[in-house]
Order: sequence, then structure tokens, then C-alpha cells
Amino acid sequence: MYLTNEEEKMLEGEYGYAVKKAMEILVALGKIYNADKLIPIKSAHVSGISYYNIGESGLEFLKDFLRGVRVKVKTTINPCAMDIERWNEMGIGREFAYKQLEIIKYFREAGVEASLTCTPYYSGNRPSLGDHIAWSESSAVAYANSIIGARSNRESGISALAAAIVGKTPYYGMHVKDERAPQVYVKIGFKLRYESDYGVLGYIISKYTCGLIPLIKLANKPSETDLRILSASISTYSNIPMYHIQDLTPESSDFDIPREKITIDKDDINEGYKYLHDDFDKPDLIWIGCPHASLEDIAHIASLLRGRRIDGRFWITTSRSVYLQALNEGYIKLIEDAGGKVYADTCIAVMPLKGIIENIITNSAKGCYYARGLNRLKVKVYSLNEIVESAAK
Ligand code: F3S
Repeated sequence: MYLTNEEEKMLEGEYGYAVKKAMEILVALGKIYNADKLIPIKSAHVSGISYYNIGESGLEFLKDFLRGVRVKVKTTINPCAMDIERWNEMGIGREFAYKQLEIIKYFREAGVEASLTCTPYYSGNRPSLGDHIAWSESSAVAYANSIIGARSNRESGISALAAAIVGKTPYYGMHVKDERAPQVYVKIGFKLRYESDYGVLGYIISKYTCGLIPLIKLANKPSETDLRILSASISTYSNIPMYHIQDLTPESSDFDIPREKITIDKDDINEGYKYLHDDFDKPDLIWIGCPHASLEDIAHIASLLRGRRIDGRFWITTSRSVYLQALNEGYIKLIEDAGGKVYADTCIAVMPLKGIIENIITNSAKGCYYARGLNRLKVKVYSLNEIVESAAK
């Protein structure tokens, strides 16, 4: 791989330990994927910052790696294990909370914005069409590639952090236009009704297309929430970094329509819902906000709950910046008056919930995957409207 003189110096350690380590990671990645050079990036987004998920060894690694270093580009971070202002109310212990806050402190000292969200594109880190970026968090990568038309591989937390420190990433995969071409045409033969249908669709497409990049022909226009939920699901149940939606993805008309074709019908979606339904009666928790809820989502939920009362625990997770806007608009009060909670900075997948709750209802197929996998919960997936109608009086 070609390196400039400056990059050679970084690799030799002239700019310190962290820069040397970061360069070693990028060069190793570049060699694995046959990249011929590094390219500058506009931003980075780093996942894997929850103390619950990375533990003491992860904390020690970050402390060591980030000591005395500054990131070179705008860099944001994924949700952590708690709402950093209301952790006490969430039942998080003091010792755990302080460890989580310590991790965030190391990032802040390195110049990283503590956005604590998987939707950085709503919180000041929104790339433009064609921008090269290095993001981890698969749902955000799929959204950035597919909906915005920015260019990112599916980075790991550590490779995204290395790219943030160097300000560059190896030139391969989604950074190369031809690699972004769709490989299979997927026609949806009927109109999808609910946002949760898009999560189920992501699961079904992943199952049928086996890692190929799909060009999806929808029968109706999706909402912003639908696109966010689809991006999260399709990138969770497969390893693809992007998909195309005909007439919506900025580059979808730049490529030939793939010859291989699949049609998805209502029975497929019904089968998907069955797969995403475990057996239990009453949920311990209803969870909305995977990926993190937008201001419009929260406004919609507030309007559904106005003057009503929720039976049971109802949590919405979002970013701090969206939370503050929703607070200003009065939406948080409406939701909390109805018995719901809106938590910022965190999500169910990265919270210490194992053994505390056993089953949840959510409108997100990705939420289902991680609740089952990381917290060993039983899960059912329904649309937001169905959830509210069954839970609120
Ligand atoms: Fe975001 Fe957590 Fe879902 S990180 S995409 S809310 S599993």
C-alpha cells in the first residue's frame, strides 16, 4: 500500500504511540482488503463504548490508547450503558456509572463529541453526498451509504477510532464506486403499512439475498422512520454495508438493474413477524427508539399518548440533542405524564438488563435481535400504533 512521507512518519512513531498504533491498524486493514492507499475522511463514528459491553479491559484499553491524543476529524460516539444524567433513576449502581462516565471522559479529552447516539446524522454529524467517512454502528453505516449517499465501510469500533486519529481510512469497499453496485433486484409486491414492517422486510431481504447488495423496488414511499428501521434491520441480519431503493438512494440510477430478481409478498412478511415473536403474555418493558428516535417520532408518540395512561413500563431511547429539542417542545412532559420515560444516551442493547427484565415488546427488528442476543430477553415486534393501542388507556 502506498503511504505518503507523512503517513510513513506516523507509522514509525514520530507522532506518538496512539498515532503509530492507529496507523498500524489502518495499514493492516488496507493490506487485508488490497487497498492501494489511504484517503482523507470527513468524519468518524465510533461504537463499542458501553461499559456493560466492553468491561474493565475495554476501559483500560481506551484509557491507554486515547492518552494525549486528539482526533483529526469530527468524531461522534454510539450509545453508552445509561442515560448519563438519569442513571440513578434507571437503577444503575454508582460504581458502574462512574466507570461509564470515565470512558466518556477519555473520548472527550481526545476531542470526540459525546453524542452518545446511533443516529449521529441527527446530532451534528451528517455527511453529504459522496463524502468519505469511517463509521462503525452498522445501522448508521447503512443509512449513510443508502439514504445520504456518503461512503463508509462497516468499520469496527477500533478501526473507526484509528481512522479518527489519523483522519484517513483505507480506500476499498464502499469507498469505491463500482463496489456499491446492486447485485440483486428485490421487488416488494404490495404496500407496507407500518414502520415495523420495514424492520421485518430487512430481516427477510437479508435471509433471501445472502449478503448481496439489493436494489429494492417498494410499492409505496417510505417515511424517514421506515428508512431508519430498514437500515438497522438489513445491516443486522446480514453483513451488507448498503442497499439501494429505486428512485430514492442517490446513486440507484447510476448502475444497471441486476439480472437476479426476487419478489417478496405478504406471506414472507407474515413469516418474518412469526420469527420475531417469542412466547410470553405481558411485557416487562415496551421499547421504542431503535435506532434512536427522531424528534418527529417523539412528537408522534406524544400525540398518541396525549391524555392517556400507559399500563406498564414504556421507554423511548434517543440522543441527547433530540431529547433536549423534545423537552423544549413539551413532548417529554406529555409522554412522562402518560407514564412513559424518554432516556437519552443509551439503548436496551447496551444497558445492563440481563436478569432484571425478561421480555419486551418493540417496533424494531434490530432491537429484537440485540435484546435476544445480548440481554437474553424474549421479544415481540409490533408497530408503534399497535403497541400504543394495546398499552394505553
Ligand atoms: Fe441504536 Fe441500540 Fe438499536 S445502538 S440501532 S438503539 S440496538
